[in-house]
Formats: sequence, structure tokens, C-alpha cells
Amino acid sequence: MQTSTMATQVETGRYARCIEVSKRIRWEIERDVFHGRDFDYRHKFLPDGLSKVGEFTFLTDEEKRLLSQVQGRTYANIFGLVERFINAKVLEISRDHWLGDQTALEALIRFSDEELKHQEMFRRIETMIGAGMPDGYVFTPDPNAVATVVLSKSTWAVLGLTCHIELFTQAHYKQSIEPDAELSELYKDVFLFHWREESQHAILDELEWRREHERLGDEERDRAVDDLIDLVVAVDGILQAQSEADANYFCMIANRVFDAGERDRVRDGLLRAYRWQYILSGVQEPRFSGILCSLINAAQVDRIRNALLTLI
Ligand SMILES: [Fe+2]
Ligand SMILES: [Fe+2]
Repeated sequence: MQTSTMATQVETGRYARCIEVSKRIRWEIERDVFHGRDFDYRHKFLPDGLSKVGEFTFLTDEEKRLLSQVQGRTYANIFGLVERFINAKVLEISRDHWLGDQTALEALIRFSDEELKHQEMFRRIETMIGAGMPDGYVFTPDPNAVATVVLSKSTWAVLGLTCHIELFTQAHYKQSIEPDAELSELYKDVFLFHWREESQHAILDELEWRREHERLGDEERDRAVDDLIDLVVAVDGILQAQSEADANYFCMIANRVFDAGERDRVRDGLLRAYRWQYILSGVQEPRFSGILCSLINAAQVDRIRNALLTLI
């Protein structure tokens, strides 16, 4: 058998496996996740491993819990945001399979359908938490405006960013959310169900990213690395604006007055936590770094590393 034919069969098998798992674990928002429950504000939302509230040594335990809830609200909104461009890109690349591998096409259509459902779930979460917390919260980025910028970059870079996001989603759940016994039960379940479907997405991201990589010449790949760096810088811009907004909101709703210096400490701590959540935890994820380093050369690794060093 030709090596390329064998490789194609292996790939079709991986797409087929994603379909099989996707069908088996399929869940519905109300029936399986919410079933009449609300978030429990006596508990944290985001676990300490992600919120890094332990580093906010000047806050009381009650304030740390409140800060984890503000961060948890933003965490859900960020997923709703990124899933807008992820779904658009998945639909776009599915075109390559329209008249080709129908198994790959079905896997991507299921991926898209799941991301639409996730966005609906995250919108519903924002509405619920909005009703449960004081007014004044602002989520600064607009999903369509962000998607327009992201989708103007090369497909290689968008798939790289997507693979990064969908792998850190899994790492966050397994390493931080699942083991934390102090979280709101519903908040924890949201990310349990989300993680189950994201596991297939990450496999599909890798398949599609490698497929796109094979299509490109050396110069296109080199420009795509610049695009990926541009996207990470854009993500950081979003995190800077949101950490400012969340610091203002937290200081407004907490039960004491924070002076300007304390407010700045909250903002700086939030920015460090957000950079960990949305950039650095994914970069350190061995599965992501393994895929990335198998696609790029040493000079390109250095360019990415130098860009990341400015965020630490
Ligand atoms: Fe999702
Ligand atoms: Fe996903």
C-alpha cells in the first residue's frame, strides 16, 4: 500500500473516532448541564489554580471568592468570544472536504454544531450571572469585531491559536477545575460538559492544522508564524483591557473602599492571572508545544519565545 494512502486512512480513522465519541457524549444545555440550577455565590467559580487569587495577599477570603466569581464570569465570556471565530474558521475549512472525505466533513460539521451550542450556553451563563451579581460589569471585546481581525490572518495561524485554546481548555479542566472541591457545583459542571466536547475539537484542530501546514511553502509558513505572534499580541490587548474593566468592577462591588494603589494591584494581578489562563498555560501544555515544534524551525521557535517573554 502507498504510504500516502495509509496516512489518509489513518486520518480518516481519527476523524471517524471523533464522530463516534461526539455522538456518544452529546449533551443538551438545559437537560444535562443546567436542569433548573443556578450558580451558588457562596462558592468560588474559577479555581485558585487559574484565578491565582492566592497571590492577592491583601484581600480577605470573602474578597478572594468574589474575585474568583468576577474572573469566572469573564472566563465564560472569553469562551463565547473565541468560539465565534473558531466556528467561522471550521466552517470555512470544511469546504476542502465538501467533495472529498465525507467522514472529515461530518466531524467538522459536528464540531461547528457543538461550538454554536457552547456559545448559546455561555450567553445564557452571562445572563444568569448578570442577574445574580451587582450591575456594572463590562465585557470589553466584541466577538464579531475580534473574529474579523482574527480571520484576516492566515489559516495556519488561526488553526494554531485554536489548537492552543482547545488544548488549554482541557488542561484547565483536568488540572484545576475538576480537583477543586470548593467551586459552585453548576460552574464546575459547565466546564465538565464543555471539556468533554472540546477533547474532540483539539484532535480535529491538529489534523486540520497539519493539513494546512502541508499545503504551504516555506515562505508562507514563515509569514504564518508572524501572524500567530500578531494574534497572541492581540489576545494580550484584550486581556489588558479586560483586567482593567474587571478591576474597576471588583473594586466597585466589594464591601470596602479601595484606594488607587490597591485598585492598580488588583488590575495587575488580574492581568497576570489572565495571561496565565489564556496564553501561558497553553504554551506550556506539552501536547501543544509538541505539535507547534514539529511544524516550525529553530529560528521560528525563537521568534515566538521572544514575543512571549514580553508577557512574563
Ligand atoms: Fe467550545
Ligand atoms: Fe471547541
